[in-house]
Amino acid sequence: MKPISRRQVLVLGGLGTASIVVGGTGLLFSANSGYGPATAEDFTEPETLRSAGGALQLKLTSAEGPARIAGRQAAVLSYNGGVPGPTWRVRPGDTVKVSLKNQLSEPTNLHVHGLHVSPSGNSDNVLLSIDPGASFDYEYQLPDDHPPGVYWYHPHHHGNVAAQVFGGLYGAIIVEDPVDIPVARERVLVISDISLDASGRIRGVSEMETMVGREGDLVLVNGRALPHMVARPGERERWRIVNACASRYLRLRLDGQQLQLLGVDSGRFAEPRDVTEVALAPGNRADLLVTAVNGTATLRTLPVDRGSAMGMMGGARGSSTGADLATLSVAGSPATALAGVPTQPRPRDLRGSAIDGSRELVFAMGMRGMGMGGGASMMSFTIDGKEFDHARIDTIVEGGSIEEWTLTNTSPMDHPVHLHVWPMQIVEQDGAEVQEILWQDVVNVPANSRVRVRIPFDNFTGTTVYHCHILDHEDLGMMGMISAT
Ligand code: C2O
Ligand code: CU
Ligand code: CU
Repeated sequence: MKPISRRQVLVLGGLGTASIVVGGTGLLFSANSGYGPATAEDFTEPETLRSAGGALQLKLTSAEGPARIAGRQAAVLSYNGGVPGPTWRVRPGDTVKVSLKNQLSEPTNLHVHGLHVSPSGNSDNVLLSIDPGASFDYEYQLPDDHPPGVYWYHPHHHGNVAAQVFGGLYGAIIVEDPVDIPVARERVLVISDISLDASGRIRGVSEMETMVGREGDLVLVNGRALPHMVARPGERERWRIVNACASRYLRLRLDGQQLQLLGVDSGRFAEPRDVTEVALAPGNRADLLVTAVNGTATLRTLPVDRGSAMGMMGGARGSSTGADLATLSVAGSPATALAGVPTQPRPRDLRGSAIDGSRELVFAMGMRGMGMGGGASMMSFTIDGKEFDHARIDTIVEGGSIEEWTLTNTSPMDHPVHLHVWPMQIVEQDGAEVQEILWQDVVNVPANSRVRVRIPFDNFTGTTVYHCHILDHEDLGMMGMISAT
């Protein structure tokens, strides 16, 4: 396998790239959606399922069929008939039992993204395959000191992940704070994208789109297009934002309002941080405080350039397009001020710690060689030169150890690198030491660069995976297996 050259990509560009969406700025929806979404409906949220007495028990049925998307009946994939599926609200120490019934026509399974739970048995085991018509009972035991924050669930059956998530299978998980943060209201915003034809069916994707990473024509908030929210001036809201898009990067703005970021993924900052913009790679989540200011504001995502490779492929860019996502109208009598945000515990910091080992993971794109076997695309997506093989353990770590990993991206596209079970502390970016305490479970590694992280392999042993969270890249092989022993 050879690394991809500009010349080879130019050659590839001649092969059927017509359907790639070209990046635009500030477009409400890109031009090729035939679907005709209804906009400006009231903001709503999926049903909320709350744990009680230390337990949450629920049923999820994944099925293909009618569900409401952007105000119209579409034929998509859904959990329990809704897009997104129900929100789970749980507490540290809880036991969560999920009975999954697969009514899809292909295998699926369930992953609880970001939760620090066992990867084995009937816990967060993504190596399971639930056949069409079959059911499986998952059980997750959250540790008593599980970090509070925003998490999510989605299918993880290798080869079908991008299509199943893009088709509508995802939902939010909130792990509540031990000490409440006073707010006027909380909102869950699951941001996803999808492409539908005029009759409401999921539009097929070209091979080129899978190599780029499919992005939808419609960008939705809780399954609605440009929903409308209202608040009174001075009200403090808490927004739990999930980037559930299969490949789209988000750069969120809500100009005119006051934003404070509590944390990203399970990484809570010691102090809320004033921000004007929140960048979320696919899979990332934000825990955001919005203090309402008089006027009408639009939640927007700005275009993101996620690598130049696609510029070489037939002239189509790999950029995530911009879109308007929701509106917020702030009017009425001012709200009385709430108590301040309680001081958060100082996050763990491994920057000065001794490490037990270090390794490098190389994320690469290349031309598929003759000897590489029957992959799904003409390009290969590899980690350390290898495509995913469920029969091969790529990395063995010792339970309880702390390792430093260098995530090296030799390709001309960004890859958002995700590790299951154990969050990563980012210690070096762009060749510079990180000057703050930053924990994430999806870490973007920009094209032709490296990021260094430290990982404490605490609490659990067993086998799980790390992968690129551009889910098409994961399905095409950019995933490896890790065993903690
Ligand atoms: Cu959100 Cu392994 O994935
Ligand atoms: Cu995950
Ligand atoms: Cu990737």
